[in-house]
Amino acid sequence: MTAIALPPSARASSHSPAAPAGPSDAFEIRPFDAALGAEVLGLDLNQPLADDDFARLHRAHLDHHVLVFRDQRISPVAHVSFSRRWGPLEVHVLRNFQLPGHPEILQVSNLRDEAGQPLGLGDAGVFWHSDLSYKEKPSLGSLLHAQELPAEGGDTLFANQHLAYEQLPQALKIAIEGRKAEHSYLARYEELRLRNPWRPRLSDAQIAEVKPAVHPVVRIHPETGRRALFVSEHFTTRIVGLPDDESRDLLAQLFDHSTRPRLVYRHRWQPHDLVFWDNRSLLHLASGCPPTLRRHLHRTTVEGDATLG
Ligand code: OGA
Ligand code: MN
Repeated sequence: MTAIALPPSARASSHSPAAPAGPSDAFEIRPFDAALGAEVLGLDLNQPLADDDFARLHRAHLDHHVLVFRDQRISPVAHVSFSRRWGPLEVHVLRNFQLPGHPEILQVSNLRDEAGQPLGLGDAGVFWHSDLSYKEKPSLGSLLHAQELPAEGGDTLFANQHLAYEQLPQALKIAIEGRKAEHSYLARYEELRLRNPWRPRLSDAQIAEVKPAVHPVVRIHPETGRRALFVSEHFTTRIVGLPDDESRDLLAQLFDHSTRPRLVYRHRWQPHDLVFWDNRSLLHLASGCPPTLRRHLHRTTVEGDATLG
């Protein structure tokens, strides 16, 4: 069968030089059939982003909590500059895992350099958590960019904490009403260091940098006003004002509830994915991969606001 050629006029109009520069509807935002998340297709973050396009992404991020930007062949410089559109960036306390020359990029990696030193945090996210919830001002969100992916495993799970709050049994809602909880970077650090001795011992200066913080158990999202559960098995140590055993029991129930499968989207990484999640709305977890397989990603983390309860 002969191919039907487009008339020259039709071809010309699809590349019309008269087309105005400005917001593009060329990229598509496609929500996942899941408790959260959407993928962004046809956008190249090497190109400058028009304000209207940024506004569209911002709205989608608030609506879906995770945006998966597919096929982003971008440099660390472009990763950092796109991340900065969302706010100032954090520098992680484990300075030795920075990407050299890019202090805002934390390497999430199980690779080692020629001297056998780990390049990055190989066990990032092995417990459910929200990044930097141990700070006075926890992070707004994180942007994780795939560099090298294992053939098997290595998924990242996200759990919707707005739905977790809304679906809490009434008795639990009442039990946490007006409560605050303490979050600490050190909560499980030694436990992780025993499992993974390549984790550095923290200096006094580092320990001083990660003082525990207290946050409402139910957090109000600063941009949408929606309530979200804000406790995690990684960083939350206790509920303020409760006896230890009650606090432990209540937290165990909350941890269990907040990560039930119906609240979870499982991200199966594709090459060059850039995943931007909202730490104010979600918990996340690394599912892990066989230690013999290489996994290497770059993370930036956007500063957030003091919590509201
Ligand atoms: C992180 C994190 C999970 C993963 O980078 O903050 O938790 O699957 N990563 O690598
Ligand atoms: Mn994390």
